[in-house]
Amino acid sequence: MGRLSVDLCGVTLDNPVIPASGAFGYGYEFAELYDINCLGTFSFKGTTLLPRFGNPTPRIAETPAGMLNSVGLQNPGVEKVISEELPKLKKVFHKPVMANVSGFSAEEYAKTCELLDQEEQVGWLEVNVSCPNVHGGGMSFGTDPQAAASVVRAVKAVTKKPVILKLTPNVTDIAAVAVACEEAGADGLSLINTLLGMRLDLRTRKPILANVMGGLSGPAVFPVALRMVYQVSKAVSIPVVGMGGVSSASDVIEMMLAGATAVEIGAANLTDPFACKRIIDELPAEMDRLGIDRLSEIIGGGH
Ligand code: FUM
Repeated sequence: MGRLSVDLCGVTLDNPVIPASGAFGYGYEFAELYDINCLGTFSFKGTTLLPRFGNPTPRIAETPAGMLNSVGLQNPGVEKVISEELPKLKKVFHKPVMANVSGFSAEEYAKTCELLDQEEQVGWLEVNVSCPNVHGGGMSFGTDPQAAASVVRAVKAVTKKPVILKLTPNVTDIAAVAVACEEAGADGLSLINTLLGMRLDLRTRKPILANVMGGLSGPAVFPVALRMVYQVSKAVSIPVVGMGGVSSASDVIEMMLAGATAVEIGAANLTDPFACKRIIDELPAEMDRLGIDRLSEIIGGGH
């Protein structure tokens, strides 16, 4: 194990840097820019049982130090992901990948996970109970501890791969949802998904996003994400993957001190497609500067 490596649910990552779902496509698109095998892993675009066209446009709005999105889980559906996207990925990425799964019922989550369970390259299932941009699914599971637990149980029944629940910050007590997922058998947790927000166009006096509201991400949310990673990692004993506004090597280290075993990076990839590579390259010098020998030793060091 190198000084940057960490163990995520029994799988070794060369480093803790993971492009987040929705910000890195199915990976091979970024392989045209750099060798993506430098990544710890990455989480691919949220995938559902059936294809989804997504929400009407505009789907993106800028904010100070961040952005709102309301994509609506646009994706080709799990069968096409398996038959078309993963074979393209396999040619350029030679590590386990994190499969991000969304759904509209516990059964649907389970069916999609069962299909992805057959895929050798899938190392973890990141079960997204936190998308704020769809009705009747996504976040409606993640705001209710018992509903989130029911998704965990349904998915755990169909797979032996590690199951990581992606949690929403749009709750009063995220630790309660985290504990319910752990008790139901989750192998790990990732947080935070985006914070529900909106913007108005001052000329039209109407919402900028066609779907009215969307999810806020980017550097503006980092302190909120850090606080929740700290709270959740104190409340559970399974690994926590931290994300939310991370854009530098020092942000990665701060997230790990708050309790994250690994760190996902989302919005930063949209302003700088090389962001994750840059952060990985900068980590050793930042560790030297802070007197850190191995990253795995600092997890939860800020508690
Ligand atoms: O709208 C979207 O596709 C975003 C998904 C998410 O934030 O989980």
